[in-house]
Amino acid sequence: IKLAAIIPAAGTGSRMQSEQPKQFIKIQSKPLLSYTLAAIQRAPQVQRVFVAVNPQASALYPSWPAQVETVAGGASRAESVLAGLQAAAAQGFSHALVHDAARPCLPLEVLLDVIEQGTTQAQGAIVALPVRDTLKRSAMGSPVIQSTVPRAYLWQAQTPQVFAIEPLIDAINAMGSTHPELTDEASAMEHAGYQPRLVMGSYKNIKVTFPEDIELVSYYLKEEIT
Ligand code: C5P
Repeated sequence: IKLAAIIPAAGTGSRMQSEQPKQFIKIQSKPLLSYTLAAIQRAPQVQRVFVAVNPQASALYPSWPAQVETVAGGASRAESVLAGLQAAAAQGFSHALVHDAARPCLPLEVLLDVIEQGTTQAQGAIVALPVRDTLKRSAMGSPVIQSTVPRAYLWQAQTPQVFAIEPLIDAINAMGSTHPELTDEASAMEHAGYQPRLVMGSYKNIKVTFPEDIELVSYYLKEEIT
């Protein structure tokens, strides 16, 4: 097993109302992405990190750490991941750990757990959390409740997601990288008939999506550092 990490970081962060994409927002004078890279590089199994970025955004990041290389990101998250997977495959990596650039607070024990399970299970493994809120379904464009969705056995998918690289590339290509339901790597694997394993995640492993998330992330990061 030769494990590479793939970090899709080519998003534009349109929901953040900020001039720069969320992964480059500064937290205590360092870009959010640098915390994510540091979190991933705590796992000794990760031999190399491929970060998918927009070529122009690359300039926002002054110096990449050792063992990190950049690849040009794509128009969708899946295309950015695919670019990283292809670069890793070309360098002889057998397995990939895909992790959102926007999740800097990944706890070490969760990281080690998903690596262990994703590299020993043929079907791969993803970090996820049991749904804790009650779920309501509405109709498109309507704020009226149509039904309550039973939350038993429902999980929220997070990252990291760990798979063997070859079947993952094939699965993304087979589903089509612009398929609207291809929102994580596991969905492509499921579409191809695999049954990836769920690994218990953490409520700290939030994805920075809206400006108010930054405060919470800063709090968790301070906790980790001190
Ligand atoms: O937009 P969303 O929060 O789902 O993005 C998840 C991750 O995918 C982010 O880290 C973002 O930078 C990345 N992404 C990408 N290429 C795109 C769109 C999103 O690498 N074209």
